[in-house]
Amino acid sequence: MPDQPLSIDVRFPLGPARSYEVVVGDGVLAELGSRLSALAGAARCLLVADSGVPQGEVERAAASLRAAGCEPVTRVIHGGEAHKTWDAAGSLLSDMAALGLERRHPVVALGGGVVGDISGFVASAYRRGVPFVQCPTTLLAMVDASVGGKSGVNLPGPPGAGTLKNMAGAFYQPVLVLVDTSVLGSLPLRHLRAGLTECIKHAMLCDSVPRRDPGLLESTRSALRAWKGVRPAGAPLAELVARNVALKASVVAQDEREELSGGGRALLNLGHTFGHALETAPGSTLLHGEAVGLGLIAAATTASALGLVGAECERLTRELVEHAGLPLEVHGLAPADVRARMAHDKKVESGRLRLVLPTGPGRATVVEGPSEDAVITGLLAVLRRP
Ligand code: GLY
Repeated sequence: MPDQPLSIDVRFPLGPARSYEVVVGDGVLAELGSRLSALAGAARCLLVADSGVPQGEVERAAASLRAAGCEPVTRVIHGGEAHKTWDAAGSLLSDMAALGLERRHPVVALGGGVVGDISGFVASAYRRGVPFVQCPTTLLAMVDASVGGKSGVNLPGPPGAGTLKNMAGAFYQPVLVLVDTSVLGSLPLRHLRAGLTECIKHAMLCDSVPRRDPGLLESTRSALRAWKGVRPAGAPLAELVARNVALKASVVAQDEREELSGGGRALLNLGHTFGHALETAPGSTLLHGEAVGLGLIAAATTASALGLVGAECERLTRELVEHAGLPLEVHGLAPADVRARMAHDKKVESGRLRLVLPTGPGRATVVEGPSEDAVITGLLAVLRRP
């Protein structure tokens, strides 16, 4: 990783006005105010901070905004999927109206994926859209959620369906993403490890994306081996972040709204149909990244049961998840409950499941209507019976 911040462009072919920079580097949060004022000079903004972010980081962001002539109004909200609610978004929108914020006044998200998703949704809706800035503070938000403009909240489902993830939302691109890798030093280890799942997912797709990074699978494997039992940190972590951001940026620039058939952005859902179901099943205490790690194993096992890959792909997936320090199985969840939740996935069409499955190391595809036996084999690979 160079000493200078690295700038990665997200360029949409049909919409240069919506293209933006993702700036990755140690300490770039201090540049928030000057970079924002160059893009959207405004006298006020709403700074939505995650309650898990150390106060010092919130003050650093606020001071940078003030120094650039932009007075922040700070609102602290909780991260964690249980807080990603319509009420949380509504309460921020009511506050913005009560504060008299205007259309030029940006919303700045400082936190993990949940805070970014709610803030983006609020920015898309307030006065039909105000400028939005992402300052992700978790590894997961840095390499995945903050890039690409997916925003939204969860909704309660019909009886028995539990929470429906991201069921209300919008594609709403930020004007700027600032990825300050120094913030990862204070992230709790469990959350840091959970974020590695999205890096594993990208590594498993590195040959199927527009900006191919064929070495990413091997580099990720070596990095995870080196971090087995030790906290990921330093230049190797910052470099992994930058490569993952570049890969994600290339995918969303090609297929912003997940419309390409058989690939494109939909591939980023590898492991997520299983993962979301494991995360929201009754009794689950898994973090999103932990559930997706299990989802990657379930996807590789399903692909093997369908004959798309050999057993070595399943072994490699398990190895990556294990070396990341993530669970390889989960206790106490009923297979029927998890399978029922998969039926509520947003990608289900006319009742048919659509799964992203690996087709080889670094490659994946969308499979329509996989056999039920193969899906159950995948699930049972990660559900530990009582
Ligand atoms: N997290 C998957 C996507 O942004 O499409």
